[in-house]
Amino acid sequence: MSAGEDVRTTVCPHGPLLVRGASSWPDADGEEHPVRRPVVAVCRCERSRLAPWCDGTHKALPRGWDTEATAADSGS
Ligand code: FES
Repeated sequence: MSAGEDVRTTVCPHGPLLVRGASSWPDADGEEHPVRRPVVAVCRCERSRLAPWCDGTHKALPRGWDTEATAADSGS
């Protein structure tokens, strides 16, 4: 993701982060991956085999995986 890009993100409940307008997106190690589509789905569950992209693995996770992570991240 470059400075000055008009990047917009939308969190899909129990799913990925939708990213619009980015030219690249970093993985967990900071490596930038080129974006070649107007909208891409970025994994939030950290279990995708195509990271940083969502591969649908989140659909097999127990309901609430994303809300539990959010609560743990915020310290509540
Ligand atoms: S959010 Fe879809 S595989 Fe992680």
